[in-house]
Amino acid sequence: PKVVVLKGGPSAEREVSLVSGRECAAALRGEGYEVFEVDAGVDVAQRLAKIAPDVVFNALHGRWGEDGCIQGLLEWLRVPYTHSGVLASSLAIDKEKTKTAYRMANLPVADSFLKSKTCVMAAHVMPPPYVVKPYNEGSSVGVYLVHDAANGPPVLGPEMPDTVMVEAFIPGRELTCTVMGDSPLGVTEIFTDGWYDYDAKYKSGGSRHVCPAELPNGITEACMDYALRAHRALGCRGVSRTDFRWDDAKGIDGLVLLETNTQPGMTPTSLSPEHAALHEMSFGQFCAWMVEDASC
Ligand code: DAL
Ligand code: MG
Repeated sequence: PKVVVLKGGPSAEREVSLVSGRECAAALRGEGYEVFEVDAGVDVAQRLAKIAPDVVFNALHGRWGEDGCIQGLLEWLRVPYTHSGVLASSLAIDKEKTKTAYRMANLPVADSFLKSKTCVMAAHVMPPPYVVKPYNEGSSVGVYLVHDAANGPPVLGPEMPDTVMVEAFIPGRELTCTVMGDSPLGVTEIFTDGWYDYDAKYKSGGSRHVCPAELPNGITEACMDYALRAHRALGCRGVSRTDFRWDDAKGIDGLVLLETNTQPGMTPTSLSPEHAALHEMSFGQFCAWMVEDASC
């Protein structure tokens, strides 16, 4: 089959997507697919019409590519595509709306709300520690941690949108779990010297992953159960990855969901390929599964 790998695009995660796309394209060629790589620009519909692929492998991240926009175009063009559809993508890109879906499924979350950037910079809008982040971007582009009241409110950079999300900071540990189809694949714990920010995510050696995570009884199972329920509550398809914070001092009650990524990273330092490897699935087989899942 003829596969177009969509990569790049105009979001803040463009560079990450270029790497995900390049890796997935190379892996799919290795699995015997005829692969075309397309950097998604305003002419994406014309480029797709010209190539006429059997399947689109969506390796885009962030706005335009992970938020239902490109999915709507692909529905319109009647081309099968990997990962989630329009509604799940639109819901999951919005971290506040995602929480509404989580709450309806009885999944635990940290307190949060949306606020104007001006308000957030004028005074503490929540007792520290708290986190300020865009509600609709990924890869920790523009995440501010406000440690304590002594420091005053955060000075948000121009990369931040007019409305931002303010969320109670959960101390403790960083966990993540991939779901593939109807199965949670495994849990990774992420260790960093400081914050799991953009550099920690994508610089080689920026973070250490322990996969499978070494956790007390019940925590791995809870992550897998929550990740699958999150995938279903949002209506995701194919592969998704749900991120958690775990305040280990509180036991199981300290585990909260942060978000579900409907287009998990597929770079050499990304997490989902490690979860596939736990099941003896190579990177190429993982990508091929997504293509086959999209076509059925
Ligand atoms: N948003 C990045 C790509 C991830 O979740 O892996
Ligand atoms: Mg994310």
